[in-house]
Amino acid sequence: MSTNQMFDLSGKTALVTGGAAGIGNEIVRTFLQKGVKVALLDRLDTIDQVAKNLGPDNAIGIQVDVTNKKQVDQAVKKVVDHFGRIDIAVNCAGVALLDAAETLSEEMWNATININLTGTYWVAQAVGNVMLKQKSGSIINMASQAGVIALQKHAAYCASKAGVIGLTHVLALEWGPHGVNVNAISPTVVLTELGKKAWAGKVGEDMKAQIPMRRFAEPEQIAAAAVYLASSEASIVNGANLVIDGGFTIQ
Ligand SMILES: NC(=O)c1ccc[n+]([C@@H]2O[C@H](COP(=O)([O-])OP(=O)(O)OC[C@H]3O[C@@H](n4cnc5c(N)ncnc54)[C@H](O)[C@@H]3O)[C@@H](O)[C@H]2O)c1
Repeated sequence: MSTNQMFDLSGKTALVTGGAAGIGNEIVRTFLQKGVKVALLDRLDTIDQVAKNLGPDNAIGIQVDVTNKKQVDQAVKKVVDHFGRIDIAVNCAGVALLDAAETLSEEMWNATININLTGTYWVAQAVGNVMLKQKSGSIINMASQAGVIALQKHAAYCASKAGVIGLTHVLALEWGPHGVNVNAISPTVVLTELGKKAWAGKVGEDMKAQIPMRRFAEPEQIAAAAVYLASSEASIVNGANLVIDGGFTIQ
């Protein structure tokens, strides 16, 4: 294969959770540009319109709360009915609800674990069953640098993302022999609209000073990693946690 044909995803079909906003939306746009047909799953009721605006012929939007297993199973069935197969699944739906460990509320803990960890599992399980029948597929779970190291006020978030990395390892072990590779991506702060607001000013400058590259990640840099992990060139990569953090977690 000539090198300029590498990372070709044309003709593939993907499901992306959290596709309405942020990193998930950037991955959806990138996949569409690469000729992928994409199903956007998001709890926002505007998701159908978001999909129509992005790619009327190649994108569908399905409103689903990833914590609801029944809704997830139905949504995955809809995607298979619509596209015939699922080659790539990206778990991007997530929340960051932060508070000191001694005061973090039950609601914040439950929402974080349910959305970030349990939701990732329900989607992976439903999609995994489709891919196991196909004997092929790639699942990419959005974890975080917070799954690898400790951050102040991140008790629930760090626990959920460490859980996502552990889940990724087990799925990779169980499904690798059947042609399905499962990997995680662990970004540092990503400059989505929300990321820009949350990390503006001193808090962001202090954080960047601790990152060897002295800057945050751009959404396109995370989407590029998703393209790689979804490509046939990465079909031997399984159970990896691709840390994209400017070197923050090596210290
Ligand atoms: N932005 C960052 O700095 C950063 C860094 C590391 C990891 N991450 C992870 O990347 C992922 C995406 O983050 P983002 O910054 O793009 O967030 P975002 O808030 O911009 O987008 C998240 C999307 O997920 C959807 N969502 C939330 N809960 C859902 C649910 N229960 N069911 C279905 N959809 C739901 C939201 O509606 C939204 O469209 C998250 O898992 C986050 O933890 C983000």
